[in-house]
Amino acid sequence: MRTQVVIIGGGPSGLLLSQLLYLNGIENVVLEKHTKKYVLSRIRAGVLEQGTVNLLNKAGLGKRIKNEGFNHDGIFLSVKNHSFRIDFKSLVNKTVTVFGQTEVTADLYSVVEKDKGRIINSAKNVMPCDILTNKPYVTYEINGLDKKITCDFIIGCDGFHGITRQIIPKNKIKTFERIYPFGWLGILSETCPVNDELIYANHKTGFALASMRNKNLSRYYIQTSINDKVEMWDDDRFWFELKKRLPKDASERLVTGPSIEKSLAPLRSFVVEPMKFGNLFLVGDAAHIVPPTGAKGLNLAFSDVNYLYESLIGYFKNDDKNAIEQYSSKALNRVWKTIRFSWWMTNTLHKFPDQTEFDQKIQEAELDYLKNSIDAQKSLAENYVGLAF
Ligand code: APR
Ligand code: PHB
Repeated sequence: MRTQVVIIGGGPSGLLLSQLLYLNGIENVVLEKHTKKYVLSRIRAGVLEQGTVNLLNKAGLGKRIKNEGFNHDGIFLSVKNHSFRIDFKSLVNKTVTVFGQTEVTADLYSVVEKDKGRIINSAKNVMPCDILTNKPYVTYEINGLDKKITCDFIIGCDGFHGITRQIIPKNKIKTFERIYPFGWLGILSETCPVNDELIYANHKTGFALASMRNKNLSRYYIQTSINDKVEMWDDDRFWFELKKRLPKDASERLVTGPSIEKSLAPLRSFVVEPMKFGNLFLVGDAAHIVPPTGAKGLNLAFSDVNYLYESLIGYFKNDDKNAIEQYSSKALNRVWKTIRFSWWMTNTLHKFPDQTEFDQKIQEAELDYLKNSIDAQKSLAENYVGLAF
């Protein structure tokens, strides 16, 4: 079989790229290791930048986000149990949309699936081959049968643990990494969210975040030790700790209930350079990871999709053979700014194990500065709503 582009990984990045290419007449196939059910069982952040919404609109998926998403004009930051608001609308005249990432992926699946055979689920042993030649191909196994697809380009949208980054020789790439010494314990509960907008709380015992999916579905997180296990946190212990860390007024009105999902996630910043090797291109989590503070994971992955999609249109449609050479540097330029912002949010809001009273005072001063400086608030707002791409 032959196609123009083989996309490895059917998460949000792979599906969106596939749909945008398809709408522009560029043939592609998505090879996904898992079943659709498995892909849609992963719960991830739920804040969409305007650029992300615009791109989803381009892919024909704007309607549900418009009808069911919640427009948020700002967020609250809290320190020592007192909160203040960052008003994106008045600061930078932009907003964000709260809409679950799982729903974005489900919508992407339904449009990609309409075109029979474009996505192949449960593809095993997917292997990109001959990526330094102009006749690359991908081999994989399905139902015990060996298959091969030749193409012009192979795209690695296979997440942090995927195969594509791993097949690049170590001396041809450089990786940059920071592993944070704590985790996030998140729960979903069918309760009314504690606040209309998100609250990011710095507390001397650790960070907390109040988020939501809809009017009767709350999403909360607390910072925990990196060695903790979910079993160590029954619901009562979770709610007790959350209440302690949220601003006082929010704690008083917090509605608790049984959790319907509970999971622990480590925090890491990671970047690989360059994001291209021969005719293999890396996109999204395959190339970079951000800690969830600031909800940039999906948004950053989609800005890569945008740059690559423009490059591929240049190559296939506008006879601009050079367009694809610029993908990595364009994408990385924005990646590093987002890495910086989520690192800064993480550093400012979390308690580090070796944190001294001096460090705590610095964090409090930083947040007090933010509270009182419109210029500092503008910088946060500009980054939170998403830098242009
Ligand atoms: N072969 C085929 N598919 C693979 C392979 C492989 N060897 N390895 C991984 N995959 C698939 C995974 O099963 C997953 O569905 O690639 C997909 C990668 O999806 P994500 O990890 O979600 O990565 P990405 O699409 O870049 O998403 C970026 O969305 O899911 C979030 O945390 C993620 O916020 C980030 C953003
Ligand atoms: C979420 O709703 O899951 C969420 C929101 C904001 C974040 C991280 C996660 O920064």
